[in-house]
Amino acid sequence: MFEAREFVENALEEIMKTVGESRVISACSGGVDSTVATFLVHKAVGEHLIAVFIDDGLRREGEPEFVMRTLKSLGIRARLVDAKEEFFDVFRGKTDAEDKRKAFRDRFYKTFGKVSKEEKIEFVTQGTIKADVLETVQGIKSQHNVLEQIGINPEVYGYKILEPLRELFKPDVRKVARELGLPKEISERMPFPGPALSLRVLGEVTPEKVSIVRKATKIVEEETRELGTFQNLAVLHNDKATGIKNGKRVYGNIVTIRIVESEDAVTAKAAQIPYEILMGIAKRITGEIPSVVRCLYDVTDKPPATIEFE
Ligand code: XMP
Repeated sequence: MFEAREFVENALEEIMKTVGESRVISACSGGVDSTVATFLVHKAVGEHLIAVFIDDGLRREGEPEFVMRTLKSLGIRARLVDAKEEFFDVFRGKTDAEDKRKAFRDRFYKTFGKVSKEEKIEFVTQGTIKADVLETVQGIKSQHNVLEQIGINPEVYGYKILEPLRELFKPDVRKVARELGLPKEISERMPFPGPALSLRVLGEVTPEKVSIVRKATKIVEEETRELGTFQNLAVLHNDKATGIKNGKRVYGNIVTIRIVESEDAVTAKAAQIPYEILMGIAKRITGEIPSVVRCLYDVTDKPPATIEFE
């Protein structure tokens, strides 16, 4: 049985020993993993830590404000770095899922390299968990936050990495969040991937496409809030389909809705959602997003699919 209290005690001791008198930044995206990791390090080293939220232009609507507000309410010093342009730059011309993942990862670590020089820090904390490491090492996909485990030395980017949650799976991270007394909107938060909406735009990632999938994501999340499912998302396809808007033929966008049940994201089941909810989502997405003419529902489990599309 996993004992959250014991884990916290050991983690705090280990972080204090590793960090000593050094300064640390924490890559905090507002998800449960990175917020728990940030809070643990804050508890261990206090003012030696600055949490950093990178605004890569790929987050949910209102996310930068939510994350900065949450960190402030937890008493953690925080800094927002606007890196939207640099991130969209690296996606230019890239259509392959792994190329996009690797481009995101490289930009992510380089951005932290820049911030770590500015802040004169030695360590970057991140919320890597066991499932991220396993999937990357097994070659399923390159998680954005896994480096050392696949033989890349993070010091090439100019810092060392601190990963207090690397041995935990998601349910235990939530237990740690509750043990630490983090607000429910963090401890029970739906998982959201580090590379964010870039994984939900098939083909080249552009600000326009991200803005479409951001609106669709908001609608799916709003309409499924009460379901208690593991992860609810929307994906924008790279191809188009014929539809009718305002009585006229349009060749428009296709959005897939994906809602899954899972414990730890390692396996997942496509959720059996009441049809009225799906129809309601499709009506809102096609009604509120002018370019979308079609909504599909993904009924594939993981495996053989993965939760995200890319
Ligand atoms: P997949 O798509 O591999 O997703 O079935 C499993 C879980 O991990 C999330 N995910 C990621 N999280 N960096 C992350 O921090 C990533 O590169 C990444 N890829 C997938 C996904 O949202 C799901 O919860």
